[in-house]
Amino acid sequence: MLKLTCVKKTFNKGTVTEKCALTGVDLTLEDGDFVTIIGGNGAGKSTLLNMIAGVYPLDSGTVELDGHDISRLSEPKRAMYLGRVFQDPMRGTAADMQIEENLALARRRGQHRGLAWGITKQEREEYPALLAKLGLGLETRMSAKVGLLSGGQRQALTLLMATLTNPKLLLLDEHTAALDPKTAAKVLELTEQIVAERNLTTLMVTHNMNDAIRLGNRLIMMHEGNIIYDVRGEEKKALTVPDLLQKFEEVSGGELANDRMLLS
Ligand SMILES: Nc1ncnc2c1ncn2[C@@H]1O[C@H](COP(=O)(O)OP(=O)(O)O)[C@@H](O)[C@H]1O
Ligand SMILES: [Mg+2]
Repeated sequence: MLKLTCVKKTFNKGTVTEKCALTGVDLTLEDGDFVTIIGGNGAGKSTLLNMIAGVYPLDSGTVELDGHDISRLSEPKRAMYLGRVFQDPMRGTAADMQIEENLALARRRGQHRGLAWGITKQEREEYPALLAKLGLGLETRMSAKVGLLSGGQRQALTLLMATLTNPKLLLLDEHTAALDPKTAAKVLELTEQIVAERNLTTLMVTHNMNDAIRLGNRLIMMHEGNIIYDVRGEEKKALTVPDLLQKFEEVSGGELANDRMLLS
C-alpha cells in the first residue's frame, strides 16, 4: 500500500554542509503492516518520514500510496491520507483551543470549512466516548484549553486526533521520547490499542530497542541514509536487544548504539 522506490535526499547540496540523508531507499509496506524503525542519530529516520509526508521535495525516486504516485503532491494534500505524531507534545494540538475544538478540527481535516459552523450535537456525544478510551479522565474536560494538559495527556490527544479520520498511514516519530517512562508506557499502550483496533498501517520511529522488538510485525534498522536490516514475523518476534546491538556493531563498529538507545 506504500511503496518507496530509490528515494534520495541530500540537504544543502553543493555547500560545505552538504548531507546525504537518504541514499536511495526502497521500502514496500503491506496493508496493516506495523513497522518499527530504529537507528542511530542522523541515520535518516525522520527524513524518511518527512519524505513520505511531503515535507521536502524528493531529489529522485518515487513515493506511491495505494498505487498512486504521490511524489509531487504537496504536504497539505498528503496530510489528508496521513496521521502524524512527533516527539514534541506541543506540536500536534492547538494550546489555546478546547479539547473538543481540537478534536473537531482533526475531524474536519482536509475539508475546506473550518469551525465556523460549530461542533455538531453528534460530535458532542461521540468525543467523550473516544476520550474515555484514553483512560486519562479527559472526557469530563471537553471544554478545557489543551494548553492546561500535561505532556502525556497532550500526546495521547494528538494520537487520537491523528487517527480520528482513519488515515491510510500513521507516522510516529519518537512520539513517546519526551515523556516520563510511566507516561511513555501509557501512550505506547494507547498506540498499540488504536493501531490494532483500526488495523492502521503504521511506521513508528523509536530509540527504545525493547519497544521496537515488542511492537509491530516488522522491524527496520537504518544507518547512514539507508535500510540495513529488515525483519518480520516470527524472526522479528525472536529478536533480542543483544541481537540488535550486534547488528549495530556489524555496520558501524559499535558507534551506532548511541547512549540514548543503550539507556532505554
Ligand atoms: N532540514 C534539514 N536540513 C539540513 N540537514 C538536515 C535536515 N533534516 C535532516 N538533516 C540531516 O540529515 C541527516 C539525517 O537526519 P534525520 O533524518 O533527522 O536523522 P534521524 O531522525 O535518524 O536522527 C542528519 O545528518 C541531519 O543533520
Ligand atoms: Mg529523528
